[in-house]
Amino acid sequence: MSNSATRKILVTSALPYANGAIHLGHLLEYIQTDIWVRFQKSRGQQCYYVCADDAHGTAIMLRAEQEGITPEALIDRVSHDHQQDFAHFGVGFDNYHSTHSEENRHLSELIYKRLRDKGHIATRDIEQMYDPQKGLFLADRFIKGTCPKCGTGDQYGDNCEKCGATYTPADLINPVSAISGATPEVRSSTHYFFKLPDFAEFLQAWINDGHVQPQIRNKLMEWFESGFNEWDISRDAPYFGFEIPDAPGKYFYVWLDAPIGYLASFKNLCDREGIDFDSYWRKDSSAEVYHFIGKDIVYFHALFWPAMLHGADLRTPTAVNCHGFLTVDGAKMSKSRGTFIKAATYADYLNPEYLRYYFAAKLTSKVDDLDLNLDDFAARVNSDLVGKVVNIASRCAGFVKKLGGGTLSAHCAEPQMVARFIAAGDDIAEDFEAREFSRAMRKIMELADEANTYIADKEPWALAKLDGHDEEVLEICSVGINLFRQLMVYLAPVVPAMAEQARIFLNLDSLDWESRHNVLFNHEVEKFKPLMTRVERDKIDAMIEASKEDLVEEQKLKEVPKGPLVEEPIADEISFDDFAKVDLRIARITKAQYVEGADKLLQLTLDIGGETRNVFSGIRSSYAPEALEGRLTVMVANLAPRKMRFGLSEGMVLASANKDGIYLLSSDAGAEPGQRVM
Ligand code: 2FM
Ligand code: ZN
Repeated sequence: MSNSATRKILVTSALPYANGAIHLGHLLEYIQTDIWVRFQKSRGQQCYYVCADDAHGTAIMLRAEQEGITPEALIDRVSHDHQQDFAHFGVGFDNYHSTHSEENRHLSELIYKRLRDKGHIATRDIEQMYDPQKGLFLADRFIKGTCPKCGTGDQYGDNCEKCGATYTPADLINPVSAISGATPEVRSSTHYFFKLPDFAEFLQAWINDGHVQPQIRNKLMEWFESGFNEWDISRDAPYFGFEIPDAPGKYFYVWLDAPIGYLASFKNLCDREGIDFDSYWRKDSSAEVYHFIGKDIVYFHALFWPAMLHGADLRTPTAVNCHGFLTVDGAKMSKSRGTFIKAATYADYLNPEYLRYYFAAKLTSKVDDLDLNLDDFAARVNSDLVGKVVNIASRCAGFVKKLGGGTLSAHCAEPQMVARFIAAGDDIAEDFEAREFSRAMRKIMELADEANTYIADKEPWALAKLDGHDEEVLEICSVGINLFRQLMVYLAPVVPAMAEQARIFLNLDSLDWESRHNVLFNHEVEKFKPLMTRVERDKIDAMIEASKEDLVEEQKLKEVPKGPLVEEPIADEISFDDFAKVDLRIARITKAQYVEGADKLLQLTLDIGGETRNVFSGIRSSYAPEALEGRLTVMVANLAPRKMRFGLSEGMVLASANKDGIYLLSSDAGAEPGQRVM
């Protein structure tokens, strides 16, 4: 492809939150995007695919606190896990960054200041529920109480799961903070708003200018007609995020700096590789920018985001490409049914390329949901990839080896057929370009059927048994290998690992789209190895079982060891028998040390009279480890051990806490380690 025709393309997928594992629902999007990107690269376009972890917000702050680690340690760990999952599934980002990065801080401040200086930011006081115990404003989902309509207890602050009523947290009967259990109070504070209504006219034109799919355009026009509100872009401290430049104690709401994370990741790549960032993002840029997203986050990407970019004098996206949700066996993914499948769990049991192919076989350019039907999944992969495509090569490779010494025939016996397979690439390319992957896969499999029919009709295995037909058999099988090669060019964006194996077998430098024009004569191929094995139903079943176990593990992890920092509801009165069940012992701290990645914990080695216990305790803020070694304290010795990320915690030391610190209980001198405390 000539250089002048090369397109400059930047592509993104939505940034996954840095507090949870990648699951198959996420993968639908990353695989869709990755196929499109690999296709563009195969066609010789200059295409960059960037992503990042979405690292800010209350949920991540609380999750880190619950695990007893810093948010930074949490997001580092999760980023590592996410990148490992993406690598397993062949999702080939050119850069993977984080929204908690200097590039993102800089760009968020820059965009904010441009909007502010042009008068697109407003401030006003708003009233919100506040958790006086945690010192935190509470989003609706962090408030629970009794439904005002039907009286069901333990419902979230915005809607009732029982009767479906929607309301505000102020309407709940007996509201409590889901974080601490405290009764929330209403408090007022100043918030910063992005004045979306300033951009109504711009957005109306943008929405109608082909940047979104027709279904999305209709939805956006509905929103447009019901009017836009200003968007609250600030959150009060404590918050894990970026402080707003002119507003101490106020932080950018996570959704403000998340899309800017696309720019930040690209900037990070540009700085590393000497790419001209501005040529992609300035207002008159001729580069193309595409965001792939799920239908749940359209409001952010097709309203706030173009308005922010436009207001900050940057270019807006060429298109926002939206997909539907993934269902499994016809229903929403369910943890208890084992259909909430993590990427890592899937990869433990099944080849990731099966899933890439299955998604491709079902994806269109529309916003419809996609069902992963597990029986259909196995049948489809087995019949198409294994039964049709791999079959062509495995039927022909042996004869090429035996009769041609591994070298294909010197002339092509079916030039017209091979030419048709090559020509089909133009049509298939249009389908890839238009994100009509399902249509492309159908065309590729029709070609595969043709190739198999050709071989079946010619029956090289029968001819090979007759004398004097060796040359003919070699020619038939050389046609077969050439056809297989065409199919692998078309499938390479979908199944890159299989394509790489095929490239090695075919002894070619590349399977790029244009390379297909060069038909293989007199060409030596490598020894054939099976390129893909069949999907086995028992592996699928084992994956479902393992997903059920993931749920059990997750629940265990949620139970962090209780320490002086966690307040539990206390019974008014207990019997002496209940009290006597608690085995309190004098313990000597023989060793105390920091725990890597945990900013609240110390690891204590306790001697309770000939027995040693390992205990993690949330007392790091008040004690240096050296100060504890040798001290006597009191421990609960018969508390069920708890598995933590750092190891097993075998009991609990007693301490008390107030706003100034934590106070470990001590015993008077003379007590012996192991003595019972009553
Ligand atoms: O919905 C989500 O999972 C968000 N973390 C997506 C952010 S996309 C972009 F705006 F950063
Ligand atoms: Zn209700």
